[in-house]
Amino acid sequence: MRILLTGGAGYVGSACLRWLLRHGHDPLAYDDLSEGNAAAVPAERLLRGDILDGKTLAATLRERRIDAVMHFAALASVPKSIDQPEAYWRTNVLGTKCLLDAMLASNVKILLFSSTAATYSFDAPMPLAEDSPQVPQVPYGTTKLAAEHIIRDYARAHGLGYAILRYFNAAGADPDGGFGEHRREETHLVPLILYAALGKRRKVFIYGTDWPTRDGSCVRDYVHTDDLALAHQLAVEGLRPGMGRIFNVGSGTGTTVLEALRACERVVGRPIPQEIVARRPGDPAVLVASPAKLERELGWQPRFPRIDEIVETAWRWHHGHPDGYARR
Ligand SMILES: NC(=O)c1ccc[n+]([C@@H]2O[C@H](COP(=O)([O-])OP(=O)(O)OC[C@H]3O[C@@H](n4cnc5c(N)ncnc54)[C@H](O)[C@@H]3O)[C@@H](O)[C@H]2O)c1
Repeated sequence: MRILLTGGAGYVGSACLRWLLRHGHDPLAYDDLSEGNAAAVPAERLLRGDILDGKTLAATLRERRIDAVMHFAALASVPKSIDQPEAYWRTNVLGTKCLLDAMLASNVKILLFSSTAATYSFDAPMPLAEDSPQVPQVPYGTTKLAAEHIIRDYARAHGLGYAILRYFNAAGADPDGGFGEHRREETHLVPLILYAALGKRRKVFIYGTDWPTRDGSCVRDYVHTDDLALAHQLAVEGLRPGMGRIFNVGSGTGTTVLEALRACERVVGRPIPQEIVARRPGDPAVLVASPAKLERELGWQPRFPRIDEIVETAWRWHHGHPDGYARR
């Protein structure tokens, strides 16, 4: 299939693009490079554009004869969304509406959407199933949930086929170590720990060891970017106009922050500078997916089910490219 990946130069989008290329598809990235990296995708597969520019988007869909869209483009930082909700509503909600209008105008009927565990109520019993209550606590989550609603309304009225994939914590890098996570301002745990190991940061902060969990630190569900990409491949290949599907994409295994830190120390082979500080407001104690529906309905099985394996791929990337994509 010829697939347009909005946000396809970003961390998850570019991993999916490389995966789709290796699995017989014809992917193209559409990204304004506000956060993503041009070097993360082959130059001939990168179109520079803004999802809020509906004209260019519609022309691209038409002229490139796109069969399906995977919509990764978004603003995706929880703390920033609290300070700048207007930017999040604009990109995540208006941007999604703009994309849907462009798809209608150019008769593209298949859409995959990157949603998030942050749309769920954090008070629901874990692991979270797809029908767990959605009560987002931060603008990042409310804007992603609003985008889910727009997609479902358009799909019902116009016969689109859609899959909403709610990711848990994306982590890891290409197994060959050539591509990985690189942001202007990093907020994710695994790269922050590995930056401390490399001396790029003085230490990694652990926000609270007084949570009601097995070792007192927060529990999250880490899923490798190749396993996310596999979920996208399976979902897009099975989707037809008129179908609507929703899946969690997580490993189903909870890992505490301290366990992730120990895994990194095992992989790196030495202690990593760290400091325990107070809890951050708004963090849930535990966030774990049930991927049962994805496994049952699409036959998905994670290839990187263990945190050590995920960290090994991330370390190969960060160790081999301490400046990320900066020197490419
Ligand atoms: N990383 C995670 O753990 C995680 C978890 C749950 C959901 N998600 C979702 O997955 C998607 C990808 O996340 P990521 O971690 O790769 O983030 P990312 O920031 O690396 O990728 C987002 C990409 O979108 C692009 N973009 C932003 N605004 C744009 C615009 N107006 N027009 C065109 N392109 C634009 C950015 O340049 C970037 O390349 C996002 O939708 C995010 O909300 C990510």
